[in-house]
Amino acid sequence: MGATTQLKYGDNSLTLPVRDGTIGPSVMDISKLYAQSGMFTYDPGFTSTASCESQITYIDGDEGTLLYRGYPIDQLAEHGDFLETCYLLLYGDLPTAAQKHDFDYRVTRHTMVHEQMARFFQGFRRDAHPMAVMVASVGALSAFYHDSTDISDPTQRMVASMRMIAKMPTLAAMAYKYTIGQPFIYPKNDLDYTSNFLRMCYAVPCEEYHVNPVLSRALDRIFILHADHEQNASTSTVRLAGSSGANPFACIAAGVACLWGPAHGGANEAALKMLSEIGTVENIPKFVARAKDKNDPFRLMGFGHRVYKNYDPRAKIMQHTCHEVLTEMGIKDDPLLDIAVELERIALHDEYFVEKKLYPNIDFYSGITLKAMGFPTDMFTVLFAVARTVGWIAQWKEMIEDPSQKIGRPRQLYTGAAPRDYIPMSKR
Ligand code: CMC
Repeated sequence: MGATTQLKYGDNSLTLPVRDGTIGPSVMDISKLYAQSGMFTYDPGFTSTASCESQITYIDGDEGTLLYRGYPIDQLAEHGDFLETCYLLLYGDLPTAAQKHDFDYRVTRHTMVHEQMARFFQGFRRDAHPMAVMVASVGALSAFYHDSTDISDPTQRMVASMRMIAKMPTLAAMAYKYTIGQPFIYPKNDLDYTSNFLRMCYAVPCEEYHVNPVLSRALDRIFILHADHEQNASTSTVRLAGSSGANPFACIAAGVACLWGPAHGGANEAALKMLSEIGTVENIPKFVARAKDKNDPFRLMGFGHRVYKNYDPRAKIMQHTCHEVLTEMGIKDDPLLDIAVELERIALHDEYFVEKKLYPNIDFYSGITLKAMGFPTDMFTVLFAVARTVGWIAQWKEMIEDPSQKIGRPRQLYTGAAPRDYIPMSKR
């Protein structure tokens, strides 16, 4: 028998098994709690709840550590490329040269989307938010690829995984092209994953397009930084949707929908809008005061994190990448960057932010970087979705392949009306 802990409630006590991870906090196993005590646990926002066992990503929020399959994020971002990270997240180990070559080949062969998808896009208004287009078009993939929706077949699961990773950039670029009224650009398979994506976004049929290697490398790094983040809101959404046996395309569409919110993936767009709203360095104190005012719902976008109570390790790399891109694009005096730097300086020293451990998160710098690359703000969350797809898929696969997996079905603390009799309308 392993370690246990005692839970005392009233005159009763229960012995609960304790499970230890490789690193990080241990967990009390409460799966039998209701059967043994008749009580549920109450944890809105899941701040103290481990919803699953996972071997993919580890975060130490106090230390500011992020590991994919044990490898520190900064090492992966510095030495590898995005598809190597995809392989690592999906298979658990870094690929050999032959495995990498084979993986790149397999992803590349799935980059085109069904030609009818182009007509599906025509149904959207031109001014639709590209995330609205993504939620719908990713969900629609399940209507086009029936041969990879049987989740009980490992081969179909793998084909669906490859398709998702390969087709997300194509759909994302189509969403962009559609909103600006330019023709869709087909993928070009002799380019690497990220260069291909940049080309699908920025090339036009009437001109040659040359990928800028500095921008391609920077965006590839941004993709690596966003690839997975353990059981965040959108990943938990994907797992919950998948727990009912829904097909992977539908599950990823659910993840895209969750990511859209400003407290999650929408924060990079919100952070940039906030910097524009602040307008000048002189206005910063006014906005900082608003962020600290309990009666004002305003928050500094790009600051704070549910898990990181230290500098977000991704934000450090992002800050460096941001400067590289601005230099490459010849942007010396970007007023938004000046505001960002000053805001960061103030927030890092302000008692309110220090005490609450509100550090800049990845979204703080990614917005400025993506803007400098030429992406409009409403595409930022779409790029996050492209990168996070591999994380969603790896976590979904892990869940499906876990023999103890069952449908996710939380319970509740009911505080509504007690039983009462129906009152006929004439007597209400
Ligand atoms: N500006 C001002 N005050 C803040 C902020 C902020 N950005 N974030 C948290 N606080 C305060 C909050 O008011 C609360 O104060 P008090 O204890 O006095 O009530 C305290 O800090 C704790 O906040 P919380 O809302 O309980 O913390 P949380 O873990 O539920 O929220 C968060 C985390 C990321 C949703 C939140 O910090 C936030 O809304 N940040 C701005 C949005 C943002 O940048 N999101 C991107 C997250 S990183 C990318 C991703 O994972 O998708």
